[in-house]
Amino acid sequence: MIRTVVVAGALLLGVGLFGVGAVMAQQDVAVKQDNLMRAQGKSMYGVILKTVKGEIPYDQKAIDAAFKDLEASVPTIPNAFATNPKEDVVNATYGASQKIWQNKADFDSKVPAVSKALADVKRTAKDVASLKVAFDTVQAKCTDCHETFRVKLK
Ligand code: HEC
Repeated sequence: MIRTVVVAGALLLGVGLFGVGAVMAQQDVAVKQDNLMRAQGKSMYGVILKTVKGEIPYDQKAIDAAFKDLEASVPTIPNAFATNPKEDVVNATYGASQKIWQNKADFDSKVPAVSKALADVKRTAKDVASLKVAFDTVQAKCTDCHETFRVKLK
């Protein structure tokens, strides 16, 4: 009798620990996906958009670096979203729509357009005016995915 209880207890503990592990792993996946997007947001909005708005001075080196970072980062999106975390990052403003994993091919198909826009515009930015055009061109392609696959949580 006691043995049965101990075994049952051990089993329950095991299930409990496994459950916690699975939840943490899912949160890790969601955080990784969010971090990738935030990094792209940093280049796009923290550097490029702020320059367009005149909030920071035009710095060709910083602009070139931002476009370079985006060009390297954007093609990693399909792989980063390969796993469905089935949960949102705690307290996040934006979440990933479940539609991504209902139609992953459609999600992935949004990515090459962003890369193409980046390749087209990255050397065209020479001043605030030309940077604005470059920003708008890339932003339209980011938005094309966000409209369908990003959810506003708060
Ligand atoms: C193929 C789809 C796709 C493309 C392309 C894409 N994103 Fe996202 N983005 C998402 C999804 C899904 C989310 C919400 C989930 C998340 O934040 O992890 C998101 C969220 C974001 C967020 C909010 C992060 C937060 O939680 O604060 C930013 C910022 C962002 N993206 C920037 C960009 C920029 C800039 C581009 C273009 C250079 C871009 N994204 C291109 C799918 C995409």
